[in-house]
Amino acid sequence: MKTHKIAVIPGDGIGPEVINEGVKVLNKIASLDHTFQFEFTSFPWGCEYYARYGKMMDDDGIERLKEFEAIYLGAVGFPGVPDHISLWDLLLKIRKSFDQYVNIRPITLLKGAPCPLVNFNSEDINMLFIRENTEGEYAGAGDWLYRGKENEVVLQNSVFSRKGTERIIRYAFEVALKQGKTLTSISKGNALNYSMVFWDQLFEEVGKEYPSVKTYSYLVDAAAMLMIKDPKRFEVVVTSNLFGDILTDLGAAIAGGLGLAAGANINPERVYPSMFEPIHGSAPDIAGKQLSNPLAAIWSASQLLDHLGYEQYGKVILTAIEQLLIEKNVLTPDLGGSSSTSEVGDCIVELIASNMNVLQTQKN
Ligand code: NAD
Ligand code: IPM
Ligand code: MN
Repeated sequence: MKTHKIAVIPGDGIGPEVINEGVKVLNKIASLDHTFQFEFTSFPWGCEYYARYGKMMDDDGIERLKEFEAIYLGAVGFPGVPDHISLWDLLLKIRKSFDQYVNIRPITLLKGAPCPLVNFNSEDINMLFIRENTEGEYAGAGDWLYRGKENEVVLQNSVFSRKGTERIIRYAFEVALKQGKTLTSISKGNALNYSMVFWDQLFEEVGKEYPSVKTYSYLVDAAAMLMIKDPKRFEVVVTSNLFGDILTDLGAAIAGGLGLAAGANINPERVYPSMFEPIHGSAPDIAGKQLSNPLAAIWSASQLLDHLGYEQYGKVILTAIEQLLIEKNVLTPDLGGSSSTSEVGDCIVELIASNMNVLQTQKN
């Protein structure tokens, strides 16, 4: 039997609650398949760890994570530890150290999911955001001059390297080509007169190698407006680190909410482990009450299965999520229900078990 070694970092706030449900789902699928199993190793890193040991993760944490095939993470950040410390010393550190330069975030309105936009349904909202994930506005470079003085100046630099920009754009073209979809680049060349001019130039340059992919280019402000007014025009989307961060929360809002928004941080070369995590944060306002929606984390688990080569099971999870949304009996409060986090996870497990039973019967 094949064993997949997965590192689990539940993290802060609702992180542990939602990850618990994702692990349940992954174990269920493995147990029904019989040919593979998961070996989960949990790391207690996060803000509580920081309070106790003065650091977000162990000093050799990155080294230890290298031995895993993938990382499954809940959320990082909680009041009490400054966000820029907690995030830079754990989540962003992993994304960067493992060169997870592709952040894949599906903005797909599943059937049964609530949408605040009138006259749009699941056929109209089906985008795949491909966000640059290791540099750009998140380069972490800057300076603080004359601190505390009258002439204080703070610099936050963006870094767009040719290598970093070209590879994310190329990745997006490959996805669009494979899926037969259009590719939209979202940038801001009118105001950001170095970084985004460079981005636009590379988008055009790489595009020449993909003449069959139909492309569009929007300024980020207009793109935000169009995602609400006419979401159908976006299929595969490629954008920078910060724009991708902001637009995928916006996307989540029109596709069922943050409780349904999943993401994968991929190192395409597979030199390092990739990491799977919901888009949402630690939600301190509802943490520890079993009010959080685990579906985003469960959807991320389906991306993890895709990554390991079990696309058929990735689909089984999405089908179960959609069934749950359509039936509407077992949902968390953010989706208008009154079920708990673990009741939703249990229900997904049951749906998966009965769907896989049907698949098995059909095969025999
Ligand atoms: P958040 O995503 O944690 O919460 C925003 C709102 O959405 C809250 O009202 C919350 O209750 C709700 N929400 C989020 N996920 C939900 C879920 N699964 N089910 C039901 N409701 C959900 O964003 P925030 O409040 O701005 O950030 C809180 C902390 O999380 C901060 O420290 C922030 O830096 C961090 N954060 C971490 C990540 C990550 O680890 N990937 C992502 C975003 C924010
Ligand atoms: C996300 C989060 C992170 C980001 C934060 C917590 C650093 O918002 O994963 O969307 O900006 O990438
Ligand atoms: Mn975000």
